[in-house]
Amino acid sequence: MKILGIETSCDECAAGVVEDGRNVLSNIIAAQNQFHAPYNGVVPEIASRKHTEWIDGVVKEALDKAKVKPGEIDAIAVTNRPGLLGSLLVGVSFAKAYAWALGIPLIAVDHMLAHLYASRLFTETAYPFLGLLVSGGHTIICIAEDFDKVTVLGTTLDDAAGEAFDKVAKHYNLGYPGGVIIDRISKNGDDSAFRFPMPSLHKGKDQGKEHRYDVSYSGLKNACINQLEQFRSKKGCPEGSLAKLEDIAASFQKTAVEILLRALFNAVEDTGITTVVAGGGVAANSYLRSRLDQQKDIHCIFPPLELCGDNGAMIAGIGYHYLSRGDRSPLSVTASAKVEGFKKLGVRS
Ligand code: KG4
Ligand code: ZN
Repeated sequence: MKILGIETSCDECAAGVVEDGRNVLSNIIAAQNQFHAPYNGVVPEIASRKHTEWIDGVVKEALDKAKVKPGEIDAIAVTNRPGLLGSLLVGVSFAKAYAWALGIPLIAVDHMLAHLYASRLFTETAYPFLGLLVSGGHTIICIAEDFDKVTVLGTTLDDAAGEAFDKVAKHYNLGYPGGVIIDRISKNGDDSAFRFPMPSLHKGKDQGKEHRYDVSYSGLKNACINQLEQFRSKKGCPEGSLAKLEDIAASFQKTAVEILLRALFNAVEDTGITTVVAGGGVAANSYLRSRLDQQKDIHCIFPPLELCGDNGAMIAGIGYHYLSRGDRSPLSVTASAKVEGFKKLGVRS
């Protein structure tokens, strides 16, 4: 069965064709970075406008590349939650019209479950496993018992991991998207040059039991941004300020990853599950990947880099499993910006 997957939840306008949930025939990703870069972050109105302009061409390209005619598609899967509402609505409306015109099933897909599915496009992993979902909007540690059966153990209490990378990069005027840039410049930095604080989440009534799998990034983000004064005043770095910036980036990145790993290792210890499947844009981070590669007691599966960020293939891939089970979404299905339980607090600053 060939499924067309459409993804427009944030700033990637993406479509892919996948056969039988596994065989990626095409995966077209039209990134909008250049339009958001002047603002150092995604501007929702620009994102939805670009999706509106691009979606038709992106879908056509995905079909052409897959050498598949519209009439040969068995179903259309589309991200309908969570994400930017205006952006989601472009993909959902397009998919509805396409499915209706072709008389084929429509399947509305959860974006984070699709990120968790991305690694299955190239390797089969037996359930249960732990999921490490790290993107620009979410940070989730969960137990996965099936492609759509996930129990959330921990989330972020404030910023998502990718959001922290993006905001630090924004304050240092490094460009957008920040995660990729910080990852790149950190390679030339000394990650022990600065000591940033690990969040202390264990105060409280349960004495350490509460928040064992949660993370928090606002403290690290603010501590890192506060270094900016020192960085700019040049007192701290009379010469070689470039090296200093790389050191700050590397030290920030190391702490950001250690925050994630502390919560993940707690989950491994408490559940006894040692297989971890990562997904989401931050899963592309080279320091995170190398840290988990070194961890011999944990088997961590990362999607290839092109499947970490938002893409249509992961939507088509998970869509196949819904379709095989007989699930369909009605044409009345709508988009939803949030998913209950995926984020503890919607705090953004
Ligand atoms: O999954 P994704 O493409 O979109 C959302 O669902 O949010 O994730 C985007 C996030 C951005 O915050 C971006 O900075 C981050 O992933 N990111 C990275 C890396 N590549 C992308 N963060 C750290 N290191 C990277 N190499
Ligand atoms: Zn995503």
